[in-house]
Amino acid sequence: MISIALTMIHFIDELKKEDLKGKRVLLRLDLNVPVENGQITDTFRLERAITTVDFLRDNEAKTIIIAHLENKDGGNDTLVPIWDYLKGYLKIDFSPSYFTPEAVDKLIKMEDKSVLLFENIRINPGEKDNNDEFAKKLSQMADIYVNDAFSVNHRMHASIVGVPKFLPHYGGFVLKSEIEHLSKVFYPDHPFVFILGGAKFQTKLPLIQKYLKTADTVFVGGSLANDIFKSKGFEVGESLVSNVPFDTSDILDNPKFRTYSDVTVTKGSEVLFKKPNEIEKDECVVDAGTETIEELKKIISGAKTIVWNGPLGNYEKGFSDKTEQLAEIIARRTEEDKSVVSIVGGGDTVASIQKLNLEGKFTFVSTGGGAMLDFLVNEALPGIEALE
Ligand code: 3PG
Repeated sequence: MISIALTMIHFIDELKKEDLKGKRVLLRLDLNVPVENGQITDTFRLERAITTVDFLRDNEAKTIIIAHLENKDGGNDTLVPIWDYLKGYLKIDFSPSYFTPEAVDKLIKMEDKSVLLFENIRINPGEKDNNDEFAKKLSQMADIYVNDAFSVNHRMHASIVGVPKFLPHYGGFVLKSEIEHLSKVFYPDHPFVFILGGAKFQTKLPLIQKYLKTADTVFVGGSLANDIFKSKGFEVGESLVSNVPFDTSDILDNPKFRTYSDVTVTKGSEVLFKKPNEIEKDECVVDAGTETIEELKKIISGAKTIVWNGPLGNYEKGFSDKTEQLAEIIARRTEEDKSVVSIVGGGDTVASIQKLNLEGKFTFVSTGGGAMLDFLVNEALPGIEALE
């Protein structure tokens, strides 16, 4: 079954050398990767981003890259470490400013096949405000716009939804592959298991409600499980819970709905395994328990479609082993039955997959975190609609 989005968008692979040679292409990438002390700690998104850049260079376009980089506190960081990384693959120049005489000079001097990376697009207030004038100014730098930043397509930002109003626009290779693979979830083979971890229950609730209709099992873990325990009236001690109220009445009694049957808790420096109704005031749920992993193994053993986003344990506190066990279970299932579709995504989920060198063992690993979840709920994203 082909996704409707795929039929309504033009993708860059439709373009030939005669369409691209000498053309200025404004390429929106997602280069938002973790950087610690100037060092990139996860290159997954960068490796994916290279494909479209290579295609544009092979077809002798002038590639102008715009992207953002946020630090852990939500502030803007410089893209210089990313520039340094990309220099290991290709000849690439950098512009620290937009629309200045220096920036214009760099643009004018671009040769066919050259690549110019601009500083973090979010240093411009017009980006997040989706300012039309700003989008227009950006568009004046180029002849063609390409969106290959799937994981930012849930944002109504100028470089995502504004620029396509002013330029001929195309989707890149990452965007196409994300739509192709994630759309399989809308026409799943059964049994279909949907696994959600991480935090922020209220943002995940629409997904749980939607997939309780189409999946055979919706398994909720991570700190979302604490919210479930709390709504059942259990003590959750010092565990992380959502601070926004939400209504679970329509999901808890659904037989397809599953969560942890046992948990890992910390009590001071001790680590204990408990039933969810045994948690005490001075304890903190940090991961699933061993019984839960066995149950997940059983659920996944016959599954034909498996979707997973978000870690089971508290990654920041170092509780990653149950998440890694789940990654291994899904990878094994995908390997033993070639007809299984397994789709995984989300920052910490992908980090565990990479740590175990399992990336090639799933049908698809999404570059998206929030964008993946929004696409799975709405079957569309603002950035994709702007290309239609
Ligand atoms: C992401 O990291 O998921 C995307 O790059 C979007 O980033 P944002 O949450 O800062 O918009």
